[in-house]
Amino acid sequence: MQGILQYLDKVKSLRIFQSGIPQKLVWLYGTYRFMQIILPKVSSVAIHLLWNSNLQRQYGNGWAIVTGGGNGLGKAYAKELAKMGYNIIIIGRTLENLNQTKLQIEREFNVQVKIIQFNFDTSDEGEYRKLNESISNVDDIAILINNVGTFEMHPFEQEQKTSTLINVNINACTYLSQFIVQKMKRRNKKSLIVFVGSETGERPHSGFAIQSSTKAYIGNLARSLAIELSPKIDVRLVTPGPIATSLLEQNKQYLNFKKKLFICTPVEVAQQSLRKVTIQTHIIGTWKHGLLQYLQNKQN
Ligand SMILES: NC(=O)c1ccc[n+]([C@@H]2O[C@H](COP(=O)([O-])OP(=O)(O)OC[C@H]3O[C@@H](n4cnc5c(N)ncnc54)[C@H](OP(=O)(O)O)[C@@H]3O)[C@@H](O)[C@H]2O)c1
Repeated sequence: MQGILQYLDKVKSLRIFQSGIPQKLVWLYGTYRFMQIILPKVSSVAIHLLWNSNLQRQYGNGWAIVTGGGNGLGKAYAKELAKMGYNIIIIGRTLENLNQTKLQIEREFNVQVKIIQFNFDTSDEGEYRKLNESISNVDDIAILINNVGTFEMHPFEQEQKTSTLINVNINACTYLSQFIVQKMKRRNKKSLIVFVGSETGERPHSGFAIQSSTKAYIGNLARSLAIELSPKIDVRLVTPGPIATSLLEQNKQYLNFKKKLFICTPVEVAQQSLRKVTIQTHIIGTWKHGLLQYLQNKQN
């Protein structure tokens, strides 16, 4: 008690408490603004350094589905989840890539792997129903990673692959999630859906207006479902910057000097985003991508 009284006396003797009311208000407002700016940054650095999500504890074990998992970021997600002990279903386009990934995962980790060859470049709901039927016997789906996506850089009026961009970036994650959500709601554990968006969906972009708009759709879908499906299903949005994959290789003109400095590997993005998945709804790929997005926001 004595200690508390001494402490209060010390606080009262600070200069701020000796000054008039206007000075006190200015001081309090300054402190409030400082905290408002600094605290989110300190907490995101602390989360990055200290937090490591335990997916098995949060979502139980079972199956993880990764779309576009034969290559690039999807392959990295599939391997990370297999490392954690999840059985994996990879859905993708090229059978050779799917088989290679399956073999690698089976060699390295003691889990089951199923592959499904499916071309997401379709708006036919019937095709999606058939895809859903092919996994209808898999009940315990703990995780869905909506990773498949494509990117083309063309002036708006010259875009040749408008329907492909809409099908692969929008229809794939929408139809598949609608089906998987029903299964997840029947589990007695929490489940996880990750939507892989992009930093291109976070602000307007000239030169790839359609691609960036499809990623903005993903962002809004993920943010809306995060509210609608909570607390039964955790929905997360990942918006990475440039990743060293074949997709980036095909769109080199997208890379200005600044972006080149911030390219990450698919493994870095998969590992760093999964580490934060139990506590952050919106995850910016890696700390490097976080820095890039911060600099871009400052510039705009
Ligand atoms: N790379 C980047 O800089 C970057 C940045 C931000 C966000 N992202 C996002 O990250 C995700 C993964 O991209 P990535 O860079 O890993 O691309 P990637 O290396 O080209 O891999 C894409 C995967 O999706 C599959 N795929 C593509 N079109 C398909 C279709 N029509 N039907 C079925 N599967 C199809 C590919 O299959 P195949 O085996 O046939 O190739 C491949 O396995 C995408 O959503 C992308 O928008 C990428």
